[in-house]
Amino acid sequence: MELIEGLHSRASALKLSAPGPTSEQLKTIMSAALRAPDHGRLKPWRFVVLEGDARAKLGEAMAQMLHKKAPHCSDAQLDAERGKPMRAPTIIVVAARIMKGKIPEIEQIASVAAGVQNMFLAAHALGIGAMWKTGGAAYEAEVKTRLGLQPEDHIVAFLYLGTIVTPGTVVPISLDTALIQAK
Ligand SMILES: Cc1cc2nc3c(=O)[nH]c(=O)nc-3n(C[C@H](O)[C@H](O)[C@H](O)COP(=O)(O)O)c2cc1C
Repeated sequence: MELIEGLHSRASALKLSAPGPTSEQLKTIMSAALRAPDHGRLKPWRFVVLEGDARAKLGEAMAQMLHKKAPHCSDAQLDAERGKPMRAPTIIVVAARIMKGKIPEIEQIASVAAGVQNMFLAAHALGIGAMWKTGGAAYEAEVKTRLGLQPEDHIVAFLYLGTIVTPGTVVPISLDTALIQAK
C-alpha cells in the first residue's frame, strides 16, 4: 500500500474477530512504533501483548476498577466492562515509561502516541483491523501493575487488533477549522 494512500484511508474498525495478527505481523506492527520520532532517543515505548486468557485478566481488572468507582453499578454493567477486552483477539497495551531528565514528559508521551499511530498504519497496510481504546482503567496504577507495567508508566493505548468484521468509515474531513492563519 502506498504510504499517502494508507494515511488517508485509515479508519478504526467497528467490529473485529479472530484470528488476530500472527507473531510475525505483531513484530512488524510493534517495530513500526519504534520508528516514531523520539526526542533524546529515550525509547519510552513499552508493549504488553494480551491474547487468549490474558485478555480476561484485563477485563477483570477493568470490572474491579468500575466497582471501586461506582459501587452501586449493576452486575450487567460489570459484565459489560469485563467483556470489553474480548472484543478483539489481540490487544497490545502501549505504555510510555518516562525517563526523568531534560526531555519533558509530554514529549516522551507524544513519542509513544506517534508510535501508536505508526502501529495503526502498519496494521492497516497488513489488512488488519485496529481500534485505539483507553478508558478509566488505563489510568489506574493497580491495572498497570497487574499488566506487568510500573505504576508510574502511562498507558497511551489499548490497541485492539484482529480480523475486520465491520470496517470503519473514512469520514471526510476539512482543513478549514484546523488551519489558522499566522498573524
Ligand atoms: C488517546 C486516544 C484514546 C482513545 N480512547 C478511546 C476509547 O476509550 N474509546 C473509543 O471508543 N475511542 C477512543 N479513541 C478514539 C478512537 O480510537 C477513534 O480514533 C475515533 O473514534 C475516530 O475514529 P477513526 O479512527 O475511524 O477516525 C481514542 C483515541 C485516542 C487518540
